[in-house]
Amino acid sequence: MYCTRKVKEDLIWVGGNDRRLSLFEGVYSVPHGVSYNSYLLLDDKTVLFDTVDKAVGKIFFENLEHELNGKKLDYVVIQHMEPDHSATLCELLLRYKDVRVVCNTKTQTMIKNFFDMESSIHLVKEQDSLNTGKHTLRFYMAPMVHWPEVMVTYDETEGTLFSADAFGTFGALNGALFADEVDFEQDYLSEARRYYTNIIGKYGVQVQALLKKMEALNIKMICPLHGFVWRSNLEFYIQKYKKWSSFIPEETCVLIPYASIYGNTENIADIVSCRLQERGIKTVMFDVSVIPASEIISAAFRYSHIIFASATYNAGIFVSMEELIRDLKSHNIQNRTIAFIQNGSWAPASGKLMKEILTDCKNMTFIEETITVQSSAKEEQEIEIEAFVNAVATTINIP
Ligand code: FEO
Repeated sequence: MYCTRKVKEDLIWVGGNDRRLSLFEGVYSVPHGVSYNSYLLLDDKTVLFDTVDKAVGKIFFENLEHELNGKKLDYVVIQHMEPDHSATLCELLLRYKDVRVVCNTKTQTMIKNFFDMESSIHLVKEQDSLNTGKHTLRFYMAPMVHWPEVMVTYDETEGTLFSADAFGTFGALNGALFADEVDFEQDYLSEARRYYTNIIGKYGVQVQALLKKMEALNIKMICPLHGFVWRSNLEFYIQKYKKWSSFIPEETCVLIPYASIYGNTENIADIVSCRLQERGIKTVMFDVSVIPASEIISAAFRYSHIIFASATYNAGIFVSMEELIRDLKSHNIQNRTIAFIQNGSWAPASGKLMKEILTDCKNMTFIEETITVQSSAKEEQEIEIEAFVNAVATTINIP
């Protein structure tokens, strides 16, 4: 049976939730599921904003049919062609033969590439508008937030921004549709950050360009393609996006990801973490062999400092740490203070190699002091450890 929610009197959420997906995009764990949002505007002309992933196709078509209630579907606006939003477009076009696809030229090419089928296209470009009766929709291109064809739609009549992937979050909608129906900051902000940093985080410049366009609009509501609709306290989330997209840390804190084979690298990471905490400096530790990279990437965007501690392995960096560091680099991590701890039983090299990977990231401050452990930390290394902790502490102004 259909399961929809009203966003406004004439705007209905007709999406679906997937709570059994183990890896979103085949990479990111989604222990709390994910929602695929689609919105139906019931104006003189009916407009659907994006379709959904194939996993929720059945409920989506039930929802759509119920809410159309016999009306014709006039337009489907395709803001993003990634299959988590477009996989059911082909079936939509088969079911609703008269629907016109509103999209830009890049999307048009992608539709052909994905589906190899003809459709009735209404092409739009930057700031073109579409009147549907009471509503005037205006389209703004948002390339690389998260794919090159992405655009957002601003409903000038209501002040509603259909924001595509931007302002989304991981996590299924569990009855609550609006962010103000849950304790977002306590229960969802960390998943919103993990979603942003891993999915869009690399494209900070492009997100800033979208935020700039948004500043000129009188936005009263944000309808993203994943997660909650925002109808109040929009500024809270917009400010988070401003910070994340400019790679400004949210908190002064030392993140310590460590890769330890037999516990000795973990031991030195623990010692350093204790010494920093004794000085009143907040630290967070992650075992990179256990914790999914997406969580550590999210933490790296959140915190100001990172100490990478890794065993040397096959004369290189330990595998899970090397993957993490390359992943961080491809997410464009920048503007952080970085230090290294290396371990090696006969030829420690991981510190130098980790630095080499990160060396051309933008605005990084590398702390000169390092710690080298040969198999296990020794009490005679206290001075070396103290010097390392001092060097990190001097870059932090504790109030
Ligand atoms: Fe939710 Fe970029 O797709």
